[in-house]
Amino acid sequence: MKTPIRVAVTGAAGQIGYSLLFRIASGAMFGPEQPVILHLIEIEPALPALNGVVMELQDCAFPLLKGIVATADLNAGFKDVNWALLVGSVPRKQGMERKDLLSINGKIFTGQGKAIAANAAKDVRIFVVGNPCNTNCLIAMNNAKSIPSDRWFAMTMLDQNRAVTQLAMKAGVDTTEVKNLAIWGNHSSTMYPDYFNAKIGGKPATEVIKHEIWFKDTFIPTVQQRGAAIIKARGLSSAASAANAVVDTVRNLVNPTPAGTCFSVGVCSDGSYGIEKGLIYSFPIVSDGKNWKIVQGVEINEFSREKMTATENELKEEKAMVAELL
Ligand code: NAD
Ligand code: LMR
Repeated sequence: MKTPIRVAVTGAAGQIGYSLLFRIASGAMFGPEQPVILHLIEIEPALPALNGVVMELQDCAFPLLKGIVATADLNAGFKDVNWALLVGSVPRKQGMERKDLLSINGKIFTGQGKAIAANAAKDVRIFVVGNPCNTNCLIAMNNAKSIPSDRWFAMTMLDQNRAVTQLAMKAGVDTTEVKNLAIWGNHSSTMYPDYFNAKIGGKPATEVIKHEIWFKDTFIPTVQQRGAAIIKARGLSSAASAANAVVDTVRNLVNPTPAGTCFSVGVCSDGSYGIEKGLIYSFPIVSDGKNWKIVQGVEINEFSREKMTATENELKEEKAMVAELL
């Protein structure tokens, strides 16, 4: 049996937490051979509800779950953790953009960044889900300067999964036929799902779906507005699909990416594709299971460049809005 890894989840008593924890404990994230110790972090008022979640985790008798720490103390919560999944924060309500949450949620990530830097294991990797996730990740990263910038991630996998399904439904094929659908930029209504470089059954998506107007007028807005559509329908933001995307992202990062494919995650820009260095921007990524890199040489036409710049500009604006937290 391998040594257990410690996985912190903030907002563990929330909606996403309720879907996510059971999948981590079952082995869906790190595989059937990897035991885990869960560090569940909540704010004080949510501790009674968290206790209920702990009881339910215990009641599953998961073979891979080797311990649970449930706490409102950030130092105890992040002590020796190998992964920190930062979910805890307020979700938006109908009519809001995700960046409207910056003034409420942004400050959470200064304290968490500091506590991770002070307590986590040397190999810690941090994945931010709480919105606006790219800029919250930027805040946490800038408050934890001792942790290398390649360990920080923000979630755009839900957008990728949404986009994949829209293409598959339109083409009348299985989702497994759709590959290389990369999300560029911010997890917001400016994100750019790059259909030009996506493949369906090995062919360019634009050759399979010969309907340029559909891509521009239906596909892109559907993906960009999917979170809002779910809030309207459910009265609550996406949770099970978000938890699923957390599992997918971490699994993609800790396993080698199949040859010829890629996945989307927000990472600290190194200036690739002319994107401002230091922004947390979603790129097409490949991993060898330990290290990741941005896929180079993706063809960028004029339309794509315009969309990539628009979402970059939004991230620059968000960065300026939180300048005092960085
Ligand atoms: P929720 O309100 O159900 O749960 C959030 C939990 O976080 C609550 O239990 C709350 O007590 C806890 N919390 C608040 N502040 C905290 C803090 N400082 N430390 C620890 N815990 C804290 O919300 P949810 O539906 O689980 O969503 C959580 C976040 O994830 C929201 O910001 C939402 O917008 C975001 N989200 C992101 C994506 C994405 O694709 N990036 C997808 C879905 C949701
Ligand atoms: C989503 O994409 O579903 C989440 O980011 C929640 C939201 O506010 O849209």
